[in-house]
Amino acid sequence: MRLQWMGEHVRVDTPAKLNLYLRIRGRRDDGFHELETLMVSVGLWDTLTLSGSTANELNLICRSTIPQSSPIPTDDSNLIIKAARLLQEVSGCTKGAAIHLTKRIPSEAGMGGGSSDAAATLVALNQVWKLELTSDELHQLAAQLGSDVNFFLDSHPAAICTGRGEKITPIPLRGSLNFVVIKPPSGLSTGKVFQKWQEHKDDTAPDLENLPRRLTEGQMNITDSCYNSLEAPAQILNADVQQCLDVLSKTAHTRGLMSGSGTSCFCVCRSWRHAQVVSSQIESFGFGQVFALQSDC
Ligand code: C5P
Repeated sequence: MRLQWMGEHVRVDTPAKLNLYLRIRGRRDDGFHELETLMVSVGLWDTLTLSGSTANELNLICRSTIPQSSPIPTDDSNLIIKAARLLQEVSGCTKGAAIHLTKRIPSEAGMGGGSSDAAATLVALNQVWKLELTSDELHQLAAQLGSDVNFFLDSHPAAICTGRGEKITPIPLRGSLNFVVIKPPSGLSTGKVFQKWQEHKDDTAPDLENLPRRLTEGQMNITDSCYNSLEAPAQILNADVQQCLDVLSKTAHTRGLMSGSGTSCFCVCRSWRHAQVVSSQIESFGFGQVFALQSDC
């Protein structure tokens, strides 16, 4: 994430992610699933501007630059408000904040937009409210908010995330990866997709080991090392996922993959030029939102 003080307020640009690999290793006693996932940050950013107030009120205004599959809530169910309340609770801070969110990351897409916004809120309000929480303390709060929030806190270009998703091991990337992403009109609830996996467990995953090695070496041709345990259950729940995967493989001539719990799907392109050509071809079909994106490196 990129944080910038602008007079009295802070601006934070915070990215989306794609899961190049996501394998469920089993269901845990707490109801969550044990994960092994490799995520990369990609250049599609939400922007938050935050200013502190002496009144103990949290006010969130959201403007979305793209059509969303469901409206973005601005009440207590938004992870931004949850993150701010958690910070108030643990620090005893009685200050409030006015927060403006410009939403460019599609929601219900498996691209981590809500988690990224929550991580940005933790980092920014820690400064705005002068709380001086340490990185470890912020990580503890992040883990309470959601499984993907920890990944975004430290702005790693890529990381292997295990446990519920909150244990982060950064991976160096040799060069930028190039992607085309399609977000179909419909979305999926993460909880429902994990539930469906119970009925549709599969065991065809390649080992994770190859992928970080190939990324560190700067290889672009990595699709055969990529995998997602949630792809099959998501396809059962939502026909748009299959359609996205078909469109990607026919247009880009490489296998399409789903990110996170869907519904967005992507393919890894051999160059930025290839990604631009494929994305404009898919745009002309008029199906969903299409993005040509690069990873951070
Ligand atoms: O942690 P997060 O809020 O992103 O998770 C949303 C839902 O996805 C959880 O309520 C749970 O049903 C499911 N989930 C899971 N195992 C994980 C992560 C998420 O079962 N490791």
